[in-house]
Amino acid sequence: MPSRKILIVDDESALRTNLFRILDRKGFQVITANCKKEAEIFCQAQQGIDLALVDLNLPDGNGYDLINYLKTLSPSTKVMIITGFGTIDTAVKATKAGVLDYLTKPFDIEQLVANIELNLKLENQIAPLDANNSQKTRYKFDSIIGESPQIKNVIRFIETVADSDSTILISGESGTGKELVAKAIHYSSNRKNNPFVPVNCGAIPRELLESELFGHVKGAFTGAVANRVGRFELASNGTIFLDEIGDMNPMLQVKLLRVLQERNFEPVGSTKTIDAKSRVITATNINLEEAVERGEFREDLFYRLNVIPIHLPALRERKSDISVLLNHCVERFNKSKGKNITGFTDEVINTLTEYSWPGNVRELENLVERIAILKGNGQVEVSDLPEKYTSQKANLSEKSSENIMLPDSGVDFNTAVDSYENALIIQALEKTGWNRNQAATLLRLNRTTLVEKIKKKGLRPPDAEM
Ligand SMILES: Nc1ncnc2c1ncn2[C@@H]1O[C@H](COP(=O)(O)OP(=O)(O)OP(=O)(O)O)[C@@H](O)[C@H]1O
Ligand SMILES: [Mg+2]
Repeated sequence: MPSRKILIVDDESALRTNLFRILDRKGFQVITANCKKEAEIFCQAQQGIDLALVDLNLPDGNGYDLINYLKTLSPSTKVMIITGFGTIDTAVKATKAGVLDYLTKPFDIEQLVANIELNLKLENQIAPLDANNSQKTRYKFDSIIGESPQIKNVIRFIETVADSDSTILISGESGTGKELVAKAIHYSSNRKNNPFVPVNCGAIPRELLESELFGHVKGAFTGAVANRVGRFELASNGTIFLDEIGDMNPMLQVKLLRVLQERNFEPVGSTKTIDAKSRVITATNINLEEAVERGEFREDLFYRLNVIPIHLPALRERKSDISVLLNHCVERFNKSKGKNITGFTDEVINTLTEYSWPGNVRELENLVERIAILKGNGQVEVSDLPEKYTSQKANLSEKSSENIMLPDSGVDFNTAVDSYENALIIQALEKTGWNRNQAATLLRLNRTTLVEKIKKKGLRPPDAEM
């Protein structure tokens, strides 16, 4: 498959250059234009743009006219828009024009790139209009890869809950696919023709988050020079995705709780009540129940959000998905980067299956991308893996039962564990010339924890004075 074509239309040259660099490096074919006219000329010459990112505010005209033009040339072109400020009018018009995603300035460029990639991936989920029903179901969750019983359960579950309007809380470590699942739910629900509006509650400064979510009226606070429509209103009849909900400050937690209870809200500085018609999906990579116990997250809000909980297991807990994802990613990067990696040796698969994947699927994608670029073709061998992937295996086997033998007579568990601990600490200290900082790093321990242990155990360098 030829690489995907992305068109970027914005009059801000820094943004164009940045996006060009990032997307080009990711293997996309990128075309940039600084105005409507230029974009039209490029599009006449280029067949089939896969995705267009259009700033609505162009120097020589309206972004919507351009979107209509693009859609006439190629109806399957996916469109994302950038707007200076969102208004409800924008939302309605954009929906009619078949726009997939909005971004209001300023935005995080990495988030934008992630959204572009996700929207290209989600392409298959939106079945063509003439497809029959069975085909529709088959394509819906295509972008979620995995063969493990856990991931199959998740897919079955989201299929059943997609059409309900209940609030969903997706939990899971970083990189387990929470946003992917949120989008899959939206695009397979009956809200799919309305906007999916993501808000990263952890990335937006707390003093701006309220107005970002609920909008504000002109003069509500210093800097509020015009009325602004919030994301809840933009997501009307669609889905609002509140990511990293655990980072929301207590004051906003109260307001969100009220919105969920009463299904309406007031923009900052306004007395006008607006109906909250969007479906709410939230995600967190912290354990919210523990945050509730620590008093950091409101219990009542937790229950409101957790109506339908979906937990995405860490990759290390569904090891059978590792090889499936590896092969899937190789295929993807081969295509997008024009490479010819033919597969992995059994040893590589074993090594990577043993690895703990703290960064989950995102880490796996990055690893495969790196290998695809550096190696280019042939079968991936253990020597192609960065050291951290192989050293963990060595450590694991050192710790394995081959080296620790339980005598037939049994052991005193505490004494045995204690002496194993002593041996590790002493070795780490010896390796680092009794540098506690470096030893702590070697043992992946907090320095204070290590120092306390050394003190408690009375460990001293061999030549230290008593
Ligand atoms: N089951 C899966 N199949 C295919 N791709 C996946 C799967 N799970 C995750 N990915 C991919 O891994 C990357 C990370 O996924 P995503 O952004 O959804 O994770 P996340 O849980 O939201 O992470 P974070 O907590 O860091 O925001 C994305 O590129 C996503 O497409
Ligand atoms: Mg995420």
